[in-house]
Order: sequence, then C-alpha cells, then structure tokens
Amino acid sequence: MTTKLKQFGAIFLFLAVWTSVSSEPRTVNDGVYTEEQAEIGEVLYTQHCILCHDKKYFRPVLKRWEGQPINVLFTVMSASMPENNPGFLSEKEYVDILAYVLSLSRYAPGDTELDYKDGALNDLIVEARKRN
Ligand code: HEC
Repeated sequence: MTTKLKQFGAIFLFLAVWTSVSSEPRTVNDGVYTEEQAEIGEVLYTQHCILCHDKKYFRPVLKRWEGQPINVLFTVMSASMPENNPGFLSEKEYVDILAYVLSLSRYAPGDTELDYKDGALNDLIVEARKRN
C-alpha cells in the first residue's frame, strides 16, 4: 500500500468508528414493526397468550424493560412462554407477537418488520413511548 492509501484508510476507519459511536441507538420509537405484522401477532397472542396475559399485562412489563435491548425480553418470552408449553412457537411467531405487544403499548408502526435475525434485536432499545 502506498502511504497515501494508508492515510486514507486510517481516516476512513476513524470516520467509521466515530459515526458508529456517535449515532443514536435505535429504539422501539423508530417504527420498528409493521401493522400487518402486529395483526399476525394478535392472532397468535389470542391463541397462545391471552389465557394468562390480558392485553394490559405488557404495559408495565415494557416499562420495566426500559433502557435494555429488546433482545432480552424476546429471549425470556421465547424460552419460557407459553408457561404451559415453553418454546412451542417459532422465532418468527414470537417476533410477530412482540410486534403486537409493541402495538398494544401504542408504539408507532413503520415500513419494516421487526426481525430477530443477525442480532437485530440486540441493537434495539426499549424506551418510553414518545408522543408526537
Ligand atoms: C399458562 C399461563 C401462561 C401462558 C399461556 C403464557 N404465559 Fe407468560 N407468564 C406466565 C406466568 C405465570 C409468568 C410469570 C409471572 C408474571 O410475571 O405474571 C409469565 C411471564 C411472562 C413474561 C415475563 C414478564 C416480565 O415480567 O418480564 C413474558 C414476556 C411473557 N410471560 C410472555 C408470554 C407470551 C408472549 C405468551 C404467549 C406466547 C405467554 N406469556 C403465555 C404465564 C403464562
């Protein structure tokens, strides 16, 4: 590599690190699920969860998870729920239920589905709902 190229590389690396550190983390206020996904989640929730958790159950639950990556909540629910049949649903189904749970707390939907793949949920923070 020539010296010029090395310098360019160093500057590029610096900028990449700097922007990743300074950019705000994504939160549940950023339109992180779609309306259709929440509708699918509602059907699943009615079939598998409502028996023990009414629609109000998750409001205080989400409050308690504020400041944490939503991945933790996702792991809790996909590993231990429904209590009478833990891990019964697929990850896709759990993530659709999670979308519905967000809609119950009136977080605004957006254009892209909530996804569990590639650690997407690790980088998504639970935050109090922002009113527009
Ligand atoms: C047979 C009853 C039952 C069913 C069905 C059930 N749960 Fe639960 N769930 C419980 C109990 C009991 C607890 C622990 C006590 C509590 O927090 O209410 C719990 C706790 C939870 C928690 C932890 C809440 C916290 O405090 O962080 C989550 C998340 C959850 N359930 C999600 C679900 C989802 C999603 C479904 C449907 C796929 C489901 N549950 C179905 C009984 C049930």
